Amino acid sequence: MGYPSRRGVLAGGLLLTTAAVGAAGYRGWERGSFGDLTDGTAFQPWRDWRSNVYQGPLALVAAAVLAASPHNSQPWRFRVEPNRIQLKADLSRALGPMDPFRRELHLGLGCAIENLMVAARGRGYDPVLTLLPDPVAEPNLVAQVDLGSPGAAVAAPHLAAIVDRHTHRGAFEPRRPLPQEVTAALAACVDDDRTWLEMFPAGSDRGRDFVAATIAATEQIVADNGMRQTSHAWFRQSRADIDEHRDGISITTSGLSGFKVRLVMALPDLDDAQFGRSWIDATRDVHCATAPLFGLIGVRMPRDRSTLLSAGRLWQRLHLEATVRGVAMQPLNQMMEMADRERQFNRPPETAEKLAAVTGDPGWAAVFAFRAGFAATKPHPSPRRGVTLVTEAVGAG
Ligand SMILES: Cc1cc2nc3c(=O)[nH]c(=O)nc-3n(C[C@H](O)[C@H](O)[C@H](O)COP(=O)(O)O)c2cc1C
Repeated sequence: MGYPSRRGVLAGGLLLTTAAVGAAGYRGWERGSFGDLTDGTAFQPWRDWRSNVYQGPLALVAAAVLAASPHNSQPWRFRVEPNRIQLKADLSRALGPMDPFRRELHLGLGCAIENLMVAARGRGYDPVLTLLPDPVAEPNLVAQVDLGSPGAAVAAPHLAAIVDRHTHRGAFEPRRPLPQEVTAALAACVDDDRTWLEMFPAGSDRGRDFVAATIAATEQIVADNGMRQTSHAWFRQSRADIDEHRDGISITTSGLSGFKVRLVMALPDLDDAQFGRSWIDATRDVHCATAPLFGLIGVRMPRDRSTLLSAGRLWQRLHLEATVRGVAMQPLNQMMEMADRERQFNRPPETAEKLAAVTGDPGWAAVFAFRAGFAATKPHPSPRRGVTLVTEAVGAG
């Protein structure tokens, strides 16, 4: 008896036979795809933040771990003192071929910094942030936040959105543009002169070039064994896998709706070739095809670590602002990933040139891309390693 293919379901074109549903049902029971898919320990950090389980500086770490990170790699460790939090890069969680210059790793660390700062202000602290406080002696120490004494909790902007922000990989409403006041609020999230934000409609020439270059880059990533296998290695395919690792991308966050998520989890695992093809299908048929708007974050110094941390803060801030306004977002970074890979091997900068053309301003280098729109469905939370797994006792290495 054959199972329907996971890729077929992920691509949205499914014809199920009764026998196949029965087979999938049995396997689903075996693999834990019934019941609440987000009730396990891997999702506890979302509940911990919502119910104020942690107090003092640990509460701020509890907010930081809910931030976005590339492939949900969560490349962070925290050193916590009563009045200070230090954030260190965990290079054992770097994405290697997908991120050879650790651009995305630093953007993800910037996301964690933003959540931490939002939570600190919300808890009444007056936080002072220092990026890369000692780059020579401690290069992996990316940020230090001196907290001072806590005051009364305040209704800080974005605080409530920390727990509701999730990457949305499902269909958006392609013909529903963002109202002008929303794009203005997103533009106002840029708060320094080191970062730049541009947004453009999917139907514009620029939007069409963005789509063509993003699909081409996805195909090239999938054709690159190192990149495809790395991405597949971070793809969690069963409840047990999610609960064990508490990280990575997974079927539950692929943008499928409830029934299909359960069905796909019940089917045999995708090997890396099938995973790659379903990524191309979803990029072309869902992510690019249904987006009304694309955006780019640019910087002047794309290889400067502290600049990348600021750009990551901007992404997290944008996504929190979008969440407040009921707008769905998804990063789409295949162009940058491929451009970095070309640079790593000194190949002709084919993708880098397309990216520069879409960026349109030689003064800025795009380091992050995304789509934004309204969606009829709600995205699922992704798993997290909680506070105790990522916090070092003071005095420890
Ligand atoms: C630097 C960076 C790059 C990312 N690139 C992509 C991407 O290209 N495609 C995508 O679907 N998600 C991308 N993401 C989103 C992450 O996969 C997501 O943040 C992570 O899985 C955690 O899920 P959450 O954002 O829903 O909490 C990126 C996130 C960051 C911080």
